[in-house]
Amino acid sequence: MLPFLEGEFGNPSSIHHVGRRARAFLDDARDRVARVFACKPSEVIFTSGGTESNNLAVLGVARRFRDKGRHIITSAVEHHAVIHPCEYLSKKEGFELTVLPVDGAGRVSPDALRKALRPDTVLVSVMAANNEIGTVQPVAELGAICRERGVVFHTDAAQWLGKEPFVDIHQFNADLVSVCAHKFHGPKGAGALFIRSPLLPDPILFGGGHENELRAGTENLPVVAGMTSAIELFLRTPVFNQETLAPLRERLRTAVGAVPGVTIRSPRNECLSNTVSFSVKGCDSIALLAGLDLEGVCASSGSACSAGSLEPSHVLKAIGCAADEANSLVRLSLGRESTVEEVQSVCSVLSVVIKRARGGEL
Ligand SMILES: Cc1ncc(COP(=O)(O)O)c(C=O)c1O
Repeated sequence: MLPFLEGEFGNPSSIHHVGRRARAFLDDARDRVARVFACKPSEVIFTSGGTESNNLAVLGVARRFRDKGRHIITSAVEHHAVIHPCEYLSKKEGFELTVLPVDGAGRVSPDALRKALRPDTVLVSVMAANNEIGTVQPVAELGAICRERGVVFHTDAAQWLGKEPFVDIHQFNADLVSVCAHKFHGPKGAGALFIRSPLLPDPILFGGGHENELRAGTENLPVVAGMTSAIELFLRTPVFNQETLAPLRERLRTAVGAVPGVTIRSPRNECLSNTVSFSVKGCDSIALLAGLDLEGVCASSGSACSAGSLEPSHVLKAIGCAADEANSLVRLSLGRESTVEEVQSVCSVLSVVIKRARGGEL
């Protein structure tokens, strides 16, 4: 990234030689991403992150096909960057929204999707892995059902990439795949959307003809450089190594699960190897997160984006938790630098933190 912060100030849209150098870099970055994805460079759109990729996919596809049908389908556990545009389409633009329920593990049933599809369905959006509890969805199966029925399928793979075994972008059987760089050690504010040709969603940003007329705005070269390297380094060989993380996760699950009143909410199987989420009876997330922070432990509640708000987790509600427990979600995430000692130290402070958050009672 550094050359683009220090000396390479060219704008890829400028005609002069400095601009042309920037354009050559941008074209090369797109080729490199396409090589990892095994797709055409024109099928890769650079965006500002997962939120924008999801908004472009949902709003862009629905609006593109609004004359064909006004029914869209999503799941109850999506990130708000999918749920909110879907709700917007339903409240403001005349679309009908079906929200698929999930089972106790947070998983969507392929049969439920089959039943929900209608002749006027124009889009299905189901995430590849959940950001709050780590559930991995059967996206390839869901995508195959949509393809059979001729319905566009989008998956938000923000949490999945860099953690699960990646072969190529086609393994999701999706027409659109959202990518978010900072989830796999890329820079923040960088993302991509894979759009399978010849699909062309309506743009949501208007202005110049950047990104194949799909996303107006001068390209952010430093973060494109960072994301491209992260994609090359960390997808095919996931940066979150499952073999290293699995024993650490097991230790965490065992220690956390042994504290009275704690219920582990991350499923044991088909779950991201770095995620252990749990709810705590008689506490709320904010007290728990603040208590953990005082002990030097950086934990999250639902999605980082809503940390600080006291909204109960919609994901916990969807898997059947009562409202008070949905308010007490804590998510611990392991990374490539996590050690056994760190896991042990979290385990040793957890019951004390919970006791304090409950006002002294364990
Ligand atoms: C599943 C999922 N989708 C989308 C996003 C949004 O990504 P960003 O905040 O980078 O726009 C996130 C980030 O937390 C996420 O976990």
